[in-house]
Amino acid sequence: MKTCIAFFSRDGSTKLAAEILAEKLKADLIELIDPVNYRGVIGFLRGGFRASSGVSAKLDAETLKKIASYDTVVAATPIWASKTTPAFNAILTEAALSGKRFVALTVQGDLNAAGHDQRVSDMKEKLAAAGAVFGGCYPVGSAKFGRCADKADLEKKLEGFKIE
Ligand SMILES: Cc1cc2nc3c(=O)[nH]c(=O)nc-3n(C[C@H](O)[C@H](O)[C@H](O)COP(=O)(O)O)c2cc1C
Repeated sequence: MKTCIAFFSRDGSTKLAAEILAEKLKADLIELIDPVNYRGVIGFLRGGFRASSGVSAKLDAETLKKIASYDTVVAATPIWASKTTPAFNAILTEAALSGKRFVALTVQGDLNAAGHDQRVSDMKEKLAAAGAVFGGCYPVGSAKFGRCADKADLEKKLEGFKIE
C-alpha cells in the first residue's frame, strides 16, 4: 500500500513532524506550497483570516496529481485560528481522493488541541463529499508559536500515531 505524507508548514514544526512520520511509516513526503505570503505580522493576520474563512490554497496541479496517486494520504497541517490551513483544505477540495484513505495530523501551539472535535467533523463532511475514507485525525500540541518544536518532543508525541 502506497502512503504519502503531504504537509504544509510555516515555522517548521509540521515539517519536522511529517519527516518523523515518513520515516516511521516508510512513506513519501510531499511539501504543499501555498503561494500566499504568510510571513511577518501582516502575513500572520492573513493566515488567521484565510484559515478561519475555510478557504483552499491554489496548489500546483502536479502536486495534486501526485497526491492522488497514493492509496493512503496522510495530510499534516498547522492549526491557525482554530482551523486547518488553506493548503490542507485544498487537498480535501481539489485532490482526487475517491476510494482513498485519508488521515490528518494537526500541529498546534495549544497542548490541549482545543477545537479538535469541530475540525474532525468539518473534515469528515468534506471527505464524504470526496468519496474518501476517514482514517483518523491525530492532534499534536507543539507549545511553540512562531518557532519550530523540539524533535525529541515531537517524536514522543507521535509515538501513538496510527492509521485507523
Ligand atoms: C496565523 C497563525 C494562527 C495560529 N492560530 C493558532 C490557534 O488558533 N491555536 C493554536 O493552538 N495555535 C495556533 N497557532 C500556532 C501554530 O498552530 C503552531 O505554532 C504550529 O506548530 C505551527 O506549525 P508550523 O511550525 O509547521 O508552521 C497559530 C499560528 C499562526 C502562524
